[in-house]
Parts: sequence; structure tokens; C-alpha cells
Amino acid sequence: MTTINDNYLKLKAGYLFPEIARRVKTFADSNSDAQIIKLGIGDVTEPLPEACRTAMIKAVEDMGDRATFKGYGPEQGYGWLREKIAKHDFQARNCDIDASEIFVSDGAKCDTGNILDIFGKNNKIAVTDPVYPVYVDTNVMAGHTGNANGNGEYDGLVYLPISAENNFVADIPRQNVDLIYLCFPNNPTGATATKDYLKAWVDYAKENGSIIFFDAAYEAFITDESLPHSIYEIEGAKDCAIEFRSFSKNAGFTGTRCALTVVPKTLTAKASDGSDVELWKLWNRRQSTKFNGVSYIVQRGAEAVYSEEGKAQVKELVSFYLENAQIICDQLKGAGFEVYGGVNAPYIWLKTPNNLSSWDFFDKLLQTAHVVGTPGSGFGAAGEGYFRISAFNSRENVEEAMKRITGS
Ligand code: MLT
Repeated sequence: MTTINDNYLKLKAGYLFPEIARRVKTFADSNSDAQIIKLGIGDVTEPLPEACRTAMIKAVEDMGDRATFKGYGPEQGYGWLREKIAKHDFQARNCDIDASEIFVSDGAKCDTGNILDIFGKNNKIAVTDPVYPVYVDTNVMAGHTGNANGNGEYDGLVYLPISAENNFVADIPRQNVDLIYLCFPNNPTGATATKDYLKAWVDYAKENGSIIFFDAAYEAFITDESLPHSIYEIEGAKDCAIEFRSFSKNAGFTGTRCALTVVPKTLTAKASDGSDVELWKLWNRRQSTKFNGVSYIVQRGAEAVYSEEGKAQVKELVSFYLENAQIICDQLKGAGFEVYGGVNAPYIWLKTPNNLSSWDFFDKLLQTAHVVGTPGSGFGAAGEGYFRISAFNSRENVEEAMKRITGS
């Protein structure tokens, strides 16, 4: 008899974004005239930077000539891309990260899930609440949790509540946890972390032998120069942190697919016999067995992000979305909403009016304004009563959506 991975049965109905898409489709099917504006999933809308397109076109031509044709590439990513990442994203910020510690991949979402392959089954895992749901669901799939309670909280996970009271940054836990997921700038709340705050986590992790999974997918949205872009800006982080990054939100690669994970060679965790094992070796083994690398064409596109033109074009794209965020914040505040995030981050996190539940507000907004956002409760029990609006859309749509929501 063939059996399944029963852990999948513990998952709540659907992954958040497909569930939203399903509800929107139901509405659209019976309201064919409605011009729906989607500010739900954080998916980019603006064209790829010209520097990336030009590099990819050239790469396609390389593939058409036997002399420059490429078959399988290195599983870890081409050296020329990893060198640029190391230099521009890390060494330029005084982070001592070498190209050999960088693994190019097809997505930060995939990597934050896949990384669990190299860790044991009995780690105590901490997530913030609310949180990017992938961190939770992949642990459920891997059998690291028990069942969910009525609030959707899984037995066995340590939830670190974040709210306006703690500025949406979790208190350092008193208990010992082994794996901690941190995401800054934060999805979904748009909160940011100071160096002092990350230092407290690094100190905690080093003292407790924990590993931090640091998701920096939105680092390009940081404009405040005092804020760290990488956890490796914090001394000691190379001994306790893995960092995930992406080309999705800065260079618009959500459909093109390219990301990276940094596993420092100094990072170790314990084998069951108590010995220290280098995580780099395990991740390299995992990737070279289960992954064949990102296409040559896409890696050339990603490389162009680091050219002078590429940098300027990415900056322009990010500024465009940040201006959207500013418009959303200003308009919603003006209309009396309690609004967080949206500065140094592309997400706006708002309190639902009149104590509406997150899904009730979702339905109301869809039905009355034909605008789609993301219910805060989809990010965790403590997100109930909140709502996320994404700044990823055209200016026209953002302005129109705000007009409809605020009635101005
Ligand atoms: C989101 O809307 O939270 C993001 O688009 C999800 C993702 O990047 O996978």
C-alpha cells in the first residue's frame, strides 16, 4: 500500500496566496465588470531593468554558438556571478563573505524551505507571529510540528509575537530555541531591524548554539543608512546565521527566478554523536544532489544588476515602489487608518477599521472597492485584525486603489 507524507494533512486549507486567488476568481466570475486591483501578493509589475534584458539577450546568443554554448552549469552558480554578489552585496558593506560561501538558486522561498533538509528533526524552531507563511508550512511538511490549534498555531513551534507594542520586532526569547527565522525588512509588517537589535539576536544565538535564518529578500528597500542590509554586518553572525536573498523584489525577477543563499564556511551544527559538522558542506551536498543550478541566461541577467547601469536601473525601480508605498501610507493615514511599515519596505500593515476580522475586511474591500490585499490572519494568529497592502503595482493602480478605499 502506498502511503503519503501525513504531515501534509496538518496544513491549513491552502497556501495563503492561492487561497486569495481562489476568492478573487470567485468574485470576478460573478462580477465581470469589476476592475479589480491586486495589492495582495508581493509580485512586481514593472518591466525588467534594461541592463538585465540586454545581458539575457546576449546570453541567448551565446547559447546559439557552439563556442560559447553552456550545458549544465556549476550547481552553486557561476563564479562570475558569485564574485559580483560577494563584492557588491557583502564586501562593500564590510561583511567578510567570500564568493565560495554563496549558493545561487531559483528562489529565496525555495531555499528557506529546502534548507530544512540539512537540519535534524528535533530542533526547537522559533518564528515570529505574524510571519511569512512559508517558514511555518515547510516545517509542518517536514514533520517538525504537531497539529494546529483553532488559531492555526502549530504544536511544537515557538511563536514570538510581534505587534505595535514591540514595534513589530520580537523580544529575544527567554527559552532556548535552535532555529530562528528573522525577516528584515519584514514581510508582512514592513518593520525594520537596527544593528543593535540584530546584535542581540547574534549574541543570543552564539550563547545558545542556535542558527538564525535571516531572510533579507527586501534589503534593497532600505533607505535609512543606519539600518543593516545583511546580518553579516553584525560581528559574530558568520558563526550563527544563514542569509537568504533574492533578485525578485529589487530587479523584478519574480518570474525570471534568481536568488542566493549564504552559508558561511565557519558555520557548524551538531551531529547526533555530538561532533561539529560544517553546514556549508551539507548544503553543498544537498544542492549538488537535488538541484542543477539556475539557467546561464538568467544568471547573466542577474550579473547585470551589478553593472553601473544595472545598479542605477534597480535603484529607480525600488524608488518607484517605495513612492507607491509612501502614497499608500499617506492616503490611508489621511483617511484615519492606523498604518505601519511602508518606509524602507514595500509592505504596508494596517489595523482593520471597526475591529473587523482580517478576512471580513478582505471581503469588504474586494466587494466595495474591488481592491485585493492580504488578510493579516493569513500570516499567523497575531495577524488577526490586520491587513497587508503591497506597494508592487503601477502608479495608476495604486492611486486608483487609494481613491476607492478612502473615497477621496
Ligand atoms: C508575498 O506576497 O508575501 C511574497 O510575494 C511572497 C513571496 O515572495 O514568495
